[in-house]
Amino acid sequence: MARHTIVTMPGDGIGNIVLKESLRVLEAAGFDAEYVHADIGWEFWRREGNPLPQRTLDLIAKYKTGLFGAITSKPKEEAARELDPSLQGKGLVYSSPIVGLRQHFNLDVSIRPCHSYKGNPLNFIRRGPGGIIEEPEIDVVIFRQNTEGLYGGVEWTDPPEEVYKALMTHPKFVKNFGHVPKEELSVSTRIFSRRATERILRAAFEYARDKGYRSVTLAEKPNVIRETSGMMYRLAKEIRAADFPEIELWNTNIDAQMMWLTKNPEHYGVIVAGNMFGDIVSDGFAGLIGGLGFACSAQFNSEGIGIFEPTHGSAPKYADYPVSIVNPIAMIESACMMLDFLGETETAARIRRAIATVIAEGKVRTYDMLKMPGSPDVIEKGAASTQQMTDEIIRKLKD
Ligand code: NAI
Ligand code: MG
Repeated sequence: MARHTIVTMPGDGIGNIVLKESLRVLEAAGFDAEYVHADIGWEFWRREGNPLPQRTLDLIAKYKTGLFGAITSKPKEEAARELDPSLQGKGLVYSSPIVGLRQHFNLDVSIRPCHSYKGNPLNFIRRGPGGIIEEPEIDVVIFRQNTEGLYGGVEWTDPPEEVYKALMTHPKFVKNFGHVPKEELSVSTRIFSRRATERILRAAFEYARDKGYRSVTLAEKPNVIRETSGMMYRLAKEIRAADFPEIELWNTNIDAQMMWLTKNPEHYGVIVAGNMFGDIVSDGFAGLIGGLGFACSAQFNSEGIGIFEPTHGSAPKYADYPVSIVNPIAMIESACMMLDFLGETETAARIRRAIATVIAEGKVRTYDMLKMPGSPDVIEKGAASTQQMTDEIIRKLKD
């Protein structure tokens, strides 16, 4: 029997392509696992009216570790039109299976590392003193609360009477919105619970301690968003004082943080934030290390379930190329995060070293690394295909 069982969810579009490549790398690295395929994505929405079938949830509940490619989402009306005719008119409403997974398993901790590889032509550079070009080394890990806040889904346009009445009890609401007709109001709430806020903060501090980072930066806005960001800052101070006194706590405002990340990104290590600010700051840092071809992620709950996925989507326009051109590194890096989660840290480190060597040598580069617009002829122009990139990483693994 294999040591680990992994639930693989390729999903849609290039999810199918890159997930397969990551499995080739895992196998070449000697990772001892068996894989159980699970259905997710557009095809299952169309055929069954559910992009996240119960059988997939059951497999994840059973095996606890999932490797996920990407899915395609479309707006409500378009989704309804694409349903199998036998399912139409039954009131089925499409919702994203990623959000569904997060909610079902309460995957409240999301981790998004952004570290630059030496020799990546997509690395952020800046002008230094005397006009010299500097290429700061970036090694940032973003901890994003994954289930609450502005993405919690508690929102209304023309709110129900009892909600409106409750809002009218707040003096600021009366002053700023009391004159607006109710039907012209849209309200999206930002709700933080103490428990989930503590969990993401602790996860960030523990990671900083384990990996030897000297600071944790809270990227929120406590001076303006006093209740939610304010609670997060207060808890961060308490948790640090009680359990992590050796780690510095830096408090930055999200807007200022977005400016600083292009001024001095090398100053930051572990960053922690609520759902939306975590989403924003992680995309910001991902842009400095090569973008979607390099951005990996993990999501966990408190019961030992971990799902690992690149942050890019299904890139439908590249899904059906006869020779695939997309960069598999974000997916392979996500598989490395899975290895870390399973305690196979040595194997993860070997794969990361192989990726680093391929990038540093610079002989094999996918189209994004060559700054080419994506098209089938990038291969003739010297870009590596998805498979060639994987082959080269595997070759380096064996060196
Ligand atoms: P996308 O991430 O799929 O693609 C945007 C662009 O990024 C692509 O056109 C391509 O230029 C580049 N790109 C993406 N992955 C790449 C890779 N591995 N290598 C090189 N270049 C890469 O985002 P888009 O086009 O906004 O959405 C396409 C579909 O994916 C939509 O249906 C969307 O809902 C879904 N989506 C799914 C996500 C997920 O499964 N986690 C996340 C984001 C979007
Ligand atoms: Mg995002």
